[in-house]
Amino acid sequence: MKISSSPAALTDHKKSALIAFFQGSENLLPAGNAALKKQIDALVKNSAFKGQAGQTAVFPMDGNQLIVAGIGEAAHFHNGLLEQAAAAAVKTGKAAGCTSFAVPASIRLKGLNAADYHLLAGRGAAWGTYSFDTFKSDSKKAPAYSLTFCGEVKDRSGIKAAQAQEAALLTTADLANLPGNEAPPVKIADWARKMAKANGLSCRIMDKAALEKKGCGGILSVAQGSAQDARMIILKHEGTDPKARPVVLVGKTVTFDSGGISLKPGKGMGWMKYDKCGGMAVLTAMQMIARMNVKVPVIGILGAAENMPGSRATRPGDIITAYKGKTVEVLNTDAEGRLVLMDALGLGADRKPRAMVDLATLTGACIVALGSSASAILGNDQKLVDTLIQHGAAAGERLWQLPLYKEYSDDMKSDFADLSNICKSGTAGTATAAAFLQEFVPADIPWAHFDIAGTAWVEAPKPHQDPGATLFGARTLAQWIAELD
Ligand code: BES
Ligand code: ZN
Ligand code: ZN
Repeated sequence: MKISSSPAALTDHKKSALIAFFQGSENLLPAGNAALKKQIDALVKNSAFKGQAGQTAVFPMDGNQLIVAGIGEAAHFHNGLLEQAAAAAVKTGKAAGCTSFAVPASIRLKGLNAADYHLLAGRGAAWGTYSFDTFKSDSKKAPAYSLTFCGEVKDRSGIKAAQAQEAALLTTADLANLPGNEAPPVKIADWARKMAKANGLSCRIMDKAALEKKGCGGILSVAQGSAQDARMIILKHEGTDPKARPVVLVGKTVTFDSGGISLKPGKGMGWMKYDKCGGMAVLTAMQMIARMNVKVPVIGILGAAENMPGSRATRPGDIITAYKGKTVEVLNTDAEGRLVLMDALGLGADRKPRAMVDLATLTGACIVALGSSASAILGNDQKLVDTLIQHGAAAGERLWQLPLYKEYSDDMKSDFADLSNICKSGTAGTATAAAFLQEFVPADIPWAHFDIAGTAWVEAPKPHQDPGATLFGARTLAQWIAELD
């Protein structure tokens, strides 16, 4: 989507559909638009539109369309609702045949600065144009969409960030939504290599032989039941001082999770094509980071493997050795994400990062705890966790902290190896999984883990998006890293 600004008044953009945001019954049009506000309020007044979160409506106005979009009542507001309202507005407009959209250059919303408004609205609008129709025989070429912020824009940073970020989201969504047969680890690696080249990132791919040579027994044990070989994908953004300590981002990229020998039940198993979404968020963030020319060096590591129950598959009870030598008893082959991540985190730690963040669709327990409303965050450094929660809130992605008590680490001990891949107690599934990961992060590296099991994709149609990947996490990472120096 082309995102730009124009100093002209909103009413001068008659070729575009106008989007107006509502907080409940409150029209958020900025001051100085009294006549227009009156006209819009009159249209909305006797309609079913109540400005609820995700609610939209279309009215004919001045020879074009008016699209109103709700963010709900003030008491329940979070930034994600604004991004979603912009997406819902454009999605509704798209269905009504609109391709050109205009929004006010500012919004009357307490606590939201102009730049964040531009980023949220711009990114959301672009997301609203997206549909995954790679496999629809009747799909047509998408038209060119545009969004114009109308009125005075003093700080252009939010518009620039939205421009830098929107294509990263839309192109990676096409990869994230591919099913397991279309996106095995080798394909993800090829895609990453091309993306890196196009964006000035360096890219190194470790194949099976390289992983064996390094002793990455975790990712190899996950892949060994599959005909598809594993790949460890390592991307690097140099930043302005390549000698500075990097930020390392690690993503679980399980291209399909059948559960392995500990086979999952059939119902809903198709969604496990989205078990690669930690890696997809990292790919998106790396692309955003490259396009925003951020100052700090950033390394992205994707552990890509398919978890299948073939005759060579890891058996429950097998003992494997992680990169760097810790031994792990695999008591449940469906707890495979942590086995991929233990090697990836070890490789990440070798880079002596100033901070390391991993993202993974790691535990069903996270969905039990938080549903799809927030991702869980856990870590060994409260300052890092707090910063990420804050940047997540600004970026429209909610993160909720869970503790990492010592009991959880104790619960991951094995009778026969250093660690077990499942907890003995069968409780605190999200925290015990994180406690397992913590064993592979040296204590002097600030580290945080996002469990995105409930947020990485949506299963039922929403006003702001159809079923599919959300790329949750990428927006937070970009927001955070862009501000580091
Ligand atoms: N990929 C799953 C977690 C998951 C489940 C994400 C549903 C999103 C939706 C993960 O590999 C897994 O199967 N975890 C097990 C761990 C258990 C065996 C300790 C789980 O959560 O049941
Ligand atoms: Zn699993
Ligand atoms: Zn999994």
